Amino acid sequence: MSHIDALLRAMTLSEKLGQLNLVTADQAITGPSVGGTTTDDICAGRVGGVFNLWGLDALRRAQRCAVEESRLGVPLLFGLDILHGFRTIFPIPLAEAGAFDPDLWERTARAAALEAAGEGIHLTFAPMLDIARDPRWGRIAEGPGEDPLVGEKFAHAKVKGFQGDDVSRFYPLAATAKHFCAGGAATAGRDYAAVDVSERALHEVYLPPFRAAVAAGCATIMTAFNNVNGAPMTAQSRLLNGYLRGRLNFDGVIMSDYAAVAELVEHGVAADQTEAAAIALNAGVDMDMVSGVYLAHMPEALARGLVDPRAIDAAVARVLRLKERLGLFDDPYRVVRLDDDVKDTHRALARDAGRRSATLLVNRGILPFAADIRRIAVIGPLADAGAEMLGPWFAAGAAENCVTIFEGLRRALPNCEIAHHSGVAIEGDDESGVVPAVALAEGADAVVLCLGESAGMSGEAACRAALGLPGEQRRLAERVMSAGAPTIALLSSGRPLTVPWLFERAQAVVATWFLGDRAGEAIADILTGRFNPCARLAVSWPRAVGQIPIFYAAGSTGRPFDAANSYTSRYLDCSNEPQFPFGHGLSFARTTLSNLRADGRELTTSRSTRISVDVQNESDVATEETIFLFARDRDARVARPLMELKDWRKVVLAPQQPATVEFALSAAAFAFPGEDMEPVVEPGDVDIFVGLSADAATLLSARLRIVSA
Ligand code: NOJ
Repeated sequence: MSHIDALLRAMTLSEKLGQLNLVTADQAITGPSVGGTTTDDICAGRVGGVFNLWGLDALRRAQRCAVEESRLGVPLLFGLDILHGFRTIFPIPLAEAGAFDPDLWERTARAAALEAAGEGIHLTFAPMLDIARDPRWGRIAEGPGEDPLVGEKFAHAKVKGFQGDDVSRFYPLAATAKHFCAGGAATAGRDYAAVDVSERALHEVYLPPFRAAVAAGCATIMTAFNNVNGAPMTAQSRLLNGYLRGRLNFDGVIMSDYAAVAELVEHGVAADQTEAAAIALNAGVDMDMVSGVYLAHMPEALARGLVDPRAIDAAVARVLRLKERLGLFDDPYRVVRLDDDVKDTHRALARDAGRRSATLLVNRGILPFAADIRRIAVIGPLADAGAEMLGPWFAAGAAENCVTIFEGLRRALPNCEIAHHSGVAIEGDDESGVVPAVALAEGADAVVLCLGESAGMSGEAACRAALGLPGEQRRLAERVMSAGAPTIALLSSGRPLTVPWLFERAQAVVATWFLGDRAGEAIADILTGRFNPCARLAVSWPRAVGQIPIFYAAGSTGRPFDAANSYTSRYLDCSNEPQFPFGHGLSFARTTLSNLRADGRELTTSRSTRISVDVQNESDVATEETIFLFARDRDARVARPLMELKDWRKVVLAPQQPATVEFALSAAAFAFPGEDMEPVVEPGDVDIFVGLSADAATLLSARLRIVSA
């Protein structure tokens, strides 16, 4: 008999339910407060895992209760939200997605995993894989942006980074793909709100990143809070048992989100907590995060015949197997040993990730700084704001370890006179600092205007209906820009901000998101030209909130926009185009593409066709470019999106260097869910588009033909 079978046999019902009980400590607050779990509960075997607790001593104490004092000595699982770093904080995922660099995505996840596992954590509630096309939703900051292919590659890289190839052989951290699924489509961009998406959108947009995470061996999956198409995800047997377990053969642990099992009553699908327990378990949820409903009410559910005891056993076995895979039965106090220089290595990685994630949106020739620049005024509430640079999920990151933008510039330009005034606060109506800030700007060779949101304005429970600059920042910016010195605006935020007036007036604008604890160094590298920016937007940047949801892969219409015809798809008061398209991002180089060609016009599933494009760096600076391959299937029974990302390549070019970039494309890339949601490839014409962003006006195109499926 296996160890797990033996344990299961020995367990009482309460001990089994204990394994399914995932509780929070209070070192971080990641949800509404709930009644406390005590060490007595751990000693009594009523707890399977604990999160929001870190520090080796604290973890050891808790583990000792489980291992030495509970009857069967089953070790606890320690989890935490490690979204973009544990102690070293990397850029928020939305920014890092814009590096379009799976190797970087994997390396930052690995670094975070090592740091956390070095302090006794076993499980991260990441990666967050919600495709999001609505920047009102604060959680857009946590994920890979708007595109499912980016989501898939991000999922794969992050799972490999956290777990290695096999969590049981190389296991810094078990990964959790969350929030399954479609939470990014919450109505009107409001957290926890209901989702109504078509079956097609589920299969084409929201499920693929989870499929990729499962294929990469992801250990656990967390359900979304939301009601999706009429059923709370915590109760959706069709997608949990049906899709995850049945279709994808996922055999890891499925957990609820925070108190979501109890919330089934509020959703109106369970009459009481007993029913809630039964519905969630029957739907496929193994672990109950925080609500304690399984522990308290499952016995009654059993007594009422609402659950089968074998379903409880199966859930417990999955949790025990995870503990076994993590090596906890061999060494419940395991910590991963770290190299002595790990801190420095990770800081260097955070700096590099930061500069690869900052997106140069506008540059009217002001950046990089000229060599003779002498006086710089660093103005704005985000200029010297270490804590804000950490972004919404900063685990054990500390504000005092952050290099602020002001500090980063001072270090990078020791011979410059660099002065700072915040002018206004991020929020609030106090304008008393505007006049001194403007005075500082007046004497400067350049102004670095640091604007944006606080870190707490994105992430969970941080949605916004208006996406302009909060407080009096616009007033500050306009007054400072009127002072006449060339102004570089830096936007710190967890989402695109609708500030068209700023894009028109500033000499340069950089989306600096929340770049983590090396933010100031990364930003200084870009402003001084030490690093040539290469990030691209992983999300379309709207001009106005009224355009939302906005994304490049729009569905078809019989009446596409035509300026000469008002009965076409358009607004009266706003362009259809985003402020900046998906993929937009400038560098200091000028790169042109030409001569798009294919080896043959015919695409089959049996072999790949080579697509090539010539790339030329026309400038005297080295550059790293991202070349996108989009496509449109022009002839299918199901109307396909106007463009879909099929692949991308990164190319590094020396000054004036030409290169040829190649893609391998087969008809399989054009598979889409047919009318029955099973993948099909249909013969017919397809257009391919290659370019530096999704801006249709700039793309090279060619027509090919799928000849066999
Ligand atoms: C709620 C969030 O939705 C989820 O992402 C997070 O992992 C849990 N709280 C635990 O902190």
